Amino acid sequence: MKIVHVASEIFPYAKTGGLADAAGSLAATLADLGHEVSVFLPGYRVAVEHPLAGQAEHRLKLRVEMGDVFMSGDVRSFSPRKNLTIYFVCREEFFDRRHLYGTPERDYEDNHHRFIFFCKGVVETLRLLELGADIVHGHDWQCGLLPLLLRHAEQRHGATLAIKTVFTVHNLAFQGIFPMRSFYRTNLPDELMGIDGVEFYGQMNMMKAGLLFADRLTTVSPRYAVEIQTPEFGCGLDGVVLSRAGEITGLLNGIDARIWNPAVDGLIPEHYNVGDLAGKTRCRADLLKRHGLDPEFRGPIFGMVCRLTEQKGIDLVLANADFFKAADVRLVLLGTGERRFETAVRELAKACPSRVAVSTRQDESMSHLIEAGSDFFLMPSRFEPCGLNQMYSLVYGTLPLVGRVGGLADTVTDLDEYPAAGTGLMFAPTAEGVRDGLSRALKLFDQPARLAAAQARGMRKNFSWTQAARAYERLYEEAI
Ligand code: ADP
Ligand code: GLC
Repeated sequence: MKIVHVASEIFPYAKTGGLADAAGSLAATLADLGHEVSVFLPGYRVAVEHPLAGQAEHRLKLRVEMGDVFMSGDVRSFSPRKNLTIYFVCREEFFDRRHLYGTPERDYEDNHHRFIFFCKGVVETLRLLELGADIVHGHDWQCGLLPLLLRHAEQRHGATLAIKTVFTVHNLAFQGIFPMRSFYRTNLPDELMGIDGVEFYGQMNMMKAGLLFADRLTTVSPRYAVEIQTPEFGCGLDGVVLSRAGEITGLLNGIDARIWNPAVDGLIPEHYNVGDLAGKTRCRADLLKRHGLDPEFRGPIFGMVCRLTEQKGIDLVLANADFFKAADVRLVLLGTGERRFETAVRELAKACPSRVAVSTRQDESMSHLIEAGSDFFLMPSRFEPCGLNQMYSLVYGTLPLVGRVGGLADTVTDLDEYPAAGTGLMFAPTAEGVRDGLSRALKLFDQPARLAAAQARGMRKNFSWTQAARAYERLYEEAI
């Protein structure tokens, strides 16, 4: 098949979260399976300057209609591996900036113009290069308008640009809501400004456009596909999702086993596997040492790596600060995000310096060491479309302690409920729930045989992208 992926971030060229990993791995795996895959992302400064993008060649000059003006841009492309072509849609004014979506203080004010331009640039490229796509697959709100823009361009030019469109929701909490007066920039028919179109409480909602107008919808775990049809998780769009219940499928993400595998991981001090865990002990000592903690410590180590936001339940961990002050445990936390949470976690580390270590920075290498060196991985998310770290934890032999939601509930099995199959501990994502999870973890730590059996079950799990990409392949075939 000729498959086109369109996303606002793709690993390794531009990344702020799991979307980059998921979209990047899916596209690369589909290419490995023999499909002809094109991937579009905005020509951000980090992307065009990425060492792997050094061979990018100018392909096309763009003239994109944006309301009553035309904006110029250009498209560059290169092929990093067989069957895979990466396209950057460039316009300096929009994408030659330090960040992807905004400064740490606030989002860029012209994000709607940036991503309307991006989607229109993709559609123009499909048309001018006659890519003849079977599937055009967009990810998250930044690509929400893509199905509409694509079908509209087809009508205008009397061309077929794609047989079917697919839209994946990685996180319904971010919807791309902008003043309706910007809608004219899309050049779409005015009737789409209504409730059956992009309108959402008087504003334009790009996520809603994707949910309504793509031929097929997917989310990144089966449970999240069901959750977002309810008011509790629907973020105001549950009715819209429900109206398309027949066309939505939850397909679990995979993890990249070349990068996240303790037997080959180049970012940890010693390798290990399920048959020989000696290397994990060395990783543990290294983790403690690198944080100025006693490397001889023998009690439980809790690790955490995440965006510091309410989604990830960081406030629920902070609400249990007394646990970390009183129990003889260690907490190693790596995360960036909201200032209030960054300050609060630093204060917790200051209050118990011999027990809690915190780094508020992006650190790929440390994120691997935390997965390898901890005993438990704390992930008390309030909602989690899929989540990657709980899967990394399982294969690194680090027991995940997770909120019973979304992709976490789809990938972890609770050990107390299923003693013979359990791989982690699950609880309600509340302060009490987290406390319950921590106490159960302490008890489990004193039962080494039970802990080791659960650990081994987790390490044997297979979250390969090949399996996940095959599921997308079937979905595409069915759609066509
Ligand atoms: P989300 O995309 O919602 O943030 P995921 O679990 O899907 O959550 O993916 C998060 C990814 O970002 C993981 O690969 C995780 O290791 C990584 N990550 C999060 N915070 C940091 C950080 N401070 N340093 C390095 N990696 C991080
Ligand atoms: C989003 C979700 C996360 C998911 C990732 C990749 O960032 O928050 O749960 O793993 O997308 O699909």
